Amino acid sequence: MQGRIILVLISIAIIAFARVAGAEVDREKLLKEPGVYATFAAFKVGDQWSHMDKQAKAGAVEEVKRVFQMHVDKVSVDTHLVRGLSEKADFFLRVHSKEMIDNQNFLVDFMGTSFGKALKNTDTFNGITKALNYVPKFPEDLKAELKTPPPQGSPYVVVVPIRKDAEWWLMSQDARMAMMQEHTGATVLYLKTIKRKLYHSSGLDDLDFITYFETAKLDDFNNLVTALLQVRENRHNKRFGEPILLGTIRPLDEILDIMSR
Ligand code: HEM
Repeated sequence: MQGRIILVLISIAIIAFARVAGAEVDREKLLKEPGVYATFAAFKVGDQWSHMDKQAKAGAVEEVKRVFQMHVDKVSVDTHLVRGLSEKADFFLRVHSKEMIDNQNFLVDFMGTSFGKALKNTDTFNGITKALNYVPKFPEDLKAELKTPPPQGSPYVVVVPIRKDAEWWLMSQDARMAMMQEHTGATVLYLKTIKRKLYHSSGLDDLDFITYFETAKLDDFNNLVTALLQVRENRHNKRFGEPILLGTIRPLDEILDIMSR
């Protein structure tokens, strides 16, 4: 009991210090800027966790919260619940920072907690955000459409890792641009209901892109992907998903609570 009180006091002190020092990373900035590293890490809770008693689980949950807090000056972490929508994973984390080593240090500490040790890391994808490649050369009307504000506060999240074929990379920039224009043309109907983010992964992972989407309308997302499967650029998708991560955006506390049931 005394030990738990001390741990809670340490957590409060860490949170207070981070606030006073103004040390938290600026999440909104990280989500907008190029040159930001992202790591997506999906986990499944192992049997070992279900054998732990209630008190041990409560202690482990506090330990996880402390690790999140310890890294707030370096990484921004988004938490997503997958349990119930996939048998392969229970939740995944999207970690952003200015240096990949900060993502790694956070995840190493997270996996080192009693909760982390009970997890199986089912998938990890790494990527970096970059300035737009093709949009600057798009016609003005299409560029204007792309300024449509994306939806806010959507509950669903979908992550699709993508690998292109060699032919795609051997094409001229102009030929790829024409196909990306066609790709974008097929998406404009969905700009109001689907928010997106693109990460480049070539050389950082066995992928070329990680595509990330938030929406309240999964029916729109399904129609969007169906439309994109019909454009020429899709011929060059050597890998599409495998796995696709579908989940809901939930706060850390809620995910830990669900995992503790
Ligand atoms: C509202 C939905 C979407 C819109 C508005 C959209 C728009 C765009 C635009 C404008 C680009 C070019 C970015 C640049 O100039 O660098 C792009 C790239 C890309 N998009 Fe989409 N997209 C959408 C949905 C999707 C979906 C559902 C996927 C696949 C699951 C996808 C996969 C990609 C990939 C892999 C690239 C990078 C291609 C490359 O740089 O070679 N997009 N998208």
